[in-house]
Order: sequence, then structure tokens, then C-alpha cells
Amino acid sequence: MNADTAVLCGLGTWLPPHAVTNDDLARELDTSDDWIRSRTGIGTRYVAAPSTATSDLAVEAGRRALKSAGFESVDAVVLATTTPDHPCPATAPLVATQLGLGTVAAFDVGAVCTGFLYALAVGAGLIAAGTAGSVLVIGADMYSSILDPADRSTRAIFGDGAGAVVLRSGGADEPGALGTPVLGSDGTGSDLITIRSGGSREPLGTIGAGHPDPYFRMAGKAVFRNAVERMADASLTAARRVGWAADDIDRLVAHQANLRILHAVADRMRLPRHRCPVHLDQVGNTAAASIPLALSHAVTTGRLAPGHRTLLTAFGGGLTWGACAVRWPTITPV
Ligand code: UT7
Repeated sequence: MNADTAVLCGLGTWLPPHAVTNDDLARELDTSDDWIRSRTGIGTRYVAAPSTATSDLAVEAGRRALKSAGFESVDAVVLATTTPDHPCPATAPLVATQLGLGTVAAFDVGAVCTGFLYALAVGAGLIAAGTAGSVLVIGADMYSSILDPADRSTRAIFGDGAGAVVLRSGGADEPGALGTPVLGSDGTGSDLITIRSGGSREPLGTIGAGHPDPYFRMAGKAVFRNAVERMADASLTAARRVGWAADDIDRLVAHQANLRILHAVADRMRLPRHRCPVHLDQVGNTAAASIPLALSHAVTTGRLAPGHRTLLTAFGGGLTWGACAVRWPTITPV
């Protein structure tokens, strides 16, 4: 038995308490419940208090994932986020310290909405290499801190949140064992999802820099098309890597960006739509947090059960995408 396979053994999530409905947004912006529901499927999203930072969300989710796994310590923390507490240093070391994990390896991964899957692959790699026997993988984002308050197209979609899983070293045949992840990127689309200013290309505060734009921007339509093709193709590749045909897939837990994207991905894979759990109606697009949040919701509502042949897939800025297979284990999300 291969003892260096990453096995998923804990799941925890956290949402800030303040819910913002479509009607709340429509009181502030030129939008409507009808537009947002019909174009995205989203009804509500959660927004963190301005006094909150991403590390606060990540700590809450991380603590719950450790509890779900029954672990008091891990050997590494990998945090996926596009909204670190500060540009420098990474947020993960602070999260590890606040979780009481001592001096373990801790670092951030940046792959925008694919961040959780990239972090999962990195965590699995640390286990396969023998660097760590257990890893806390967190996806946490606070998009409310980077959205343009006047941009109806992004404010309608994104919400804050955090989710985390615990990986441990185990055997490839165990429930929860991760298949070999599929990851990809295409920098020719790097201008489709951006925060233009505030990096080395266009530092904030540079004299003569013109009009800095510190906000998150997305070319929705082009992203939409890419997301469908990339998630569907990556998912089928990830399934093939563990020997599953398309018909074998019980659940496709996809990044929760838009209900029309979820349906289009399922259709492209010839998968019945009901095999794609939906959570975005309640939380919107929570970026790096969306897959663990969707997993937790699917388990607690009975949509995802032990033994289900499950694919995880995501797409995001970069452009980046990924997919990973897992036979769902017995886990109680916290
Ligand atoms: O998580 C990372 C990956 N992200 C995604 O996968 C997101 C992918 N893209 C999408 O989900 C969709 O493209 C959006 C939901 C962002 C936009 O939907 P769309 O059907 O592609 O609309 P559009 O961008 O083509 O805009 C159509 C119209 C525009 O008005 P005009 O130019 O036709 O007059 C927009 O200004 O809809 C307008 N619009 C809105 N109207 C009311 C955009 N946002 C809103 C809004 N309320 N919130």
C-alpha cells in the first residue's frame, strides 16, 4: 500500500454573519433581484465587517477543519487567497500561529478562484514528498475589500467566506484519497481578471502613474466561455486519471461562480445537472473558499454522501483551472 497518498479527513467552513440580499444591492446600485437571479442564480452573499481581515476568516475555517478531523496539529498550512491581509508577508504564517500550530511550514498560494485546488495539489505534493504527514489547506477570500463599490457586475457576484480541509498521509485505496490533480494556466488571458494597480507593474503612489485602479475587474463574458471549456475538460481528465468514465461520476462539485456555468459544464460533460451541487444561490462566488463551502453544504444537505465518486473543479484569474477526483469519505463538516 502506498502510504504517501493525501487523504481528505476533515472539513470546516466559516461565513461572516452579515447577509446581503439582491434587494439590498438594488437599493444601492442599478440592478435588480430579477437580473441577478436570472443571469447568475445568486440570491444572497455574505460580507465581512470592515474590521475583519482574511486571516480572521481563515482561522475560523481552519479551526473547524481541525476539529472535524480530530487533529490538534498539522505539519503545514497552505492558504489560497487573492485578498491577503497585506501584500507582504504571506497570511498563512499568522493563521498558523493563531491556530496554535507553532512553527510549522505556512505559505500562501495565489491562483485566484482556482486557488483552493492549487493549494490542495500543493498539500498533496508535500505529503507525497514526505515533507509533511498532514496539511491544513485553506481557501479564504474577502472580496468585499477589493470590489469597486460602484461596479454592479462584480458586486452582484462575489461574497466573503472561508473553507478548509485537512489532508493526512494514507493509502491510495482509502476513502478520501485524492487522485492526481489536473492543473492548468493560460497567461494570454491574464487581462480578463485583474487588479491593475498596486503591484510592481503599476505601483500605487508612483508619481505620474496616471489613474491607478486598485479594484478587482472581470471581463465576464470571455471568462464565462473559458470557464466552461476548461472546467469540463480538466474534470474529464481528472476522472480518467483514476479510471472513471463520465458515467461513473456521482458528483461534480464545481467552483460556484454562476449557475449558468455549472449547467453548461454539466451539459458539456453529458452529466445530469442534478449531479452538480449548487451553493452559490446562498453565498455567491466566494472565490478560493467556494469549493470547501460547497462541499460542506452538499454533505449537510445530503447531496454528497460517503462513497460518491466526486470531482472537484475550479476556474479563475490567471487564467487558471484545475480538477481533482476523490471518492467521498465519511466526514462530519464543522
Ligand atoms: O470566479 C472566477 C470566474 N468568474 C466567472 O466565472 C464569472 C463568469 N461570468 C459571469 O458569470 C457573467 O459573465 C456575469 C454574471 C459576470 C455577467 O453576465 P452576462 O450575461 O455575461 O452579462 P454581460 O457582462 O454581457 O452584461 C450584459 C448587460 C450589460 O449591459 P449592456 O452593456 O448590455 O447595457 C451589463 O452592464 O448586463 C449589464 N449588467 C447588469 N445589469 C444589471 C451587468 N451586471 C449587472 C447587474 N445588474 N448586476
